Amino acid sequence: MQSLQKLRLALSLVLILCLTKSMAESNRWRKSVQLNLHREKNHTKILRSFENQKLRLKEKLDPVTDTTLTSLSVSETSGTKDNLINSHNTEYYVTADFGTPKTQKVTLLLDTASANLLVYSSKFVKASCSLHNGYNSSESLTYQGNGTAFQIQFASQDVLTGILSTDTFTLGDLAVKNQTFAEINTAPQSLCKRSNFDGILGLGLPEIALDGVTTPLENIVDQGLIDEPIFSFFVNRNASDASNGGVLLLGGSDPTLYRGCLTYVPLSKVAFWQITVGQVKIGGKKLCSNCQAIFDVGTSLIIVPCKALKIINQKLGLKKTDLKNGAHIIDCSKVSSLPNIVFNIGWKDFTLTPSDYILNYTGTCVSGFSSLSDCSADQTKTNDDGEDLNEIWVFGDVFFGAFYILFDFGLKLIGIAPKV
Ligand SMILES: *[C@@H]1O[C@H](CO)[C@@H](O)[C@H](O)[C@H]1NC(C)=O
Ligand SMILES: *[C@@H]1O[C@H](CO)[C@@H](O)[C@H](O)[C@H]1NC(C)=O
Ligand SMILES: *[C@@H]1O[C@H](CO)[C@@H](O)[C@H](O)[C@H]1NC(C)=O
Ligand SMILES: *[C@@H]1O[C@H](CO)[C@@H](O)[C@H](O)[C@H]1NC(C)=O
Ligand SMILES: *[C@@H]1O[C@H](CO)[C@@H](O)[C@H](O)[C@H]1NC(C)=O
Ligand SMILES: *[C@@H]1O[C@H](CO)[C@@H](O)[C@H](O)[C@H]1NC(C)=O
Repeated sequence: MQSLQKLRLALSLVLILCLTKSMAESNRWRKSVQLNLHREKNHTKILRSFENQKLRLKEKLDPVTDTTLTSLSVSETSGTKDNLINSHNTEYYVTADFGTPKTQKVTLLLDTASANLLVYSSKFVKASCSLHNGYNSSESLTYQGNGTAFQIQFASQDVLTGILSTDTFTLGDLAVKNQTFAEINTAPQSLCKRSNFDGILGLGLPEIALDGVTTPLENIVDQGLIDEPIFSFFVNRNASDASNGGVLLLGGSDPTLYRGCLTYVPLSKVAFWQITVGQVKIGGKKLCSNCQAIFDVGTSLIIVPCKALKIINQKLGLKKTDLKNGAHIIDCSKVSSLPNIVFNIGWKDFTLTPSDYILNYTGTCVSGFSSLSDCSADQTKTNDDGEDLNEIWVFGDVFFGAFYILFDFGLKLIGIAPKV
């Protein structure tokens, strides 16, 4: 289909969906599956530094390293220990069962910037990663060996290795057959000790899948487990309701969870979930126009270009000394007087208020904005397409927290509306 046709279709879709919102609601359980998201309740359990998370993300976007090996995001947490930063409001998980019968339950980190499934093997867990659950192929009747070696290397030099295996995996009521995934056999101890998850569920497009493995989403659609190639996120940010992480709906959208109509935007590039954002402004000052933004639920903050970060920090009254382990600490009493940030997406304004973009760890407030690079140095780095990587925005959980977001991998669109 020509892209213009796609766009027309997308625009008419907006109208149709808006007019039939109540109808859509009555239809919404038509072959779709709702998964409840989890968050870690214990604020001190994961001491996770944003600095390392940025490294990981940088690796994903980095054109220099082997992109086929680095498009996976894994919570790699070696490095500076920071008691402040924890998993609360920074990572979202689902539980899944591996194999048949369903006796092997694991926790999977959700990630829209990677497209593979991976899980610790039980052998590795038993030998050196004991706080976690792992997958034991000998206990599954539907296991099919593959054995292809698998490796991911991180910017930090940490390496995860394993093999590919194929089995059924179950998400809620969806039993996904013949899913090929990576069974992780070695990983850094730091990852085992500090991360809360046993594997990663990549919800990215097939274009970024490692080793050409059929993605979980492709299998779910091909096996007729959902009617429409769509999924949507409602991410909960309510701090007093920590264990309730929100909802991932596979196969549709839930109009009771957003206000008004979804605004649809076609992907600007079919790799990541990436769109062109018309304009971003803070307190009336323009941060960029026609900016490229990637939607990544596996990233905690909103990653912005250095130029934009400088202006944002100025508006937030932040100084260099407020930066600790990649997080900008801000006086909580100032939060109510901070400006809104407005994203113009699909000719519509989407506003983040200070309470949306400031994270509050029981009285310690942290800015929800950071950058990929060390902004004190002047670096420009372009990828194969000539894009300036320092110019890319990454909409992480801080962004997801304010908006209902729909991902359409049939029409290659993103839909967005304010959360209820
Ligand atoms: C929270 O996690 C920390 C570190 O793992 C542990 O020491 C503490 O006992 C946990 N607290 C609760 C209430 O589970
Ligand atoms: C895997 O399952 C088999 C069969 O139940 C068992 O003998 C073996 O000890 C298990 N391996 C691990 C590492 O748990
Ligand atoms: C799964 O793979 C097996 C063996 O390769 C094949 O017989 C079966 O049809 C596949 N099932 C699905 C649902 O793709
Ligand atoms: C292993 O999986 C990969 C990716 O799905 C596939 O290309 C390859 O043919 C498989 N190899 C075997 C031996 O099944
Ligand atoms: C947050 O969660 C608590 C506990 O479930 C609930 O009482 C409160 O109404 C929620 N706040 C908002 C703003 O939804
Ligand atoms: C931050 O959290 C503390 C304690 O949880 C609360 O008393 C305070 O009002 C919060 N501040 C803001 C700005 O949300």
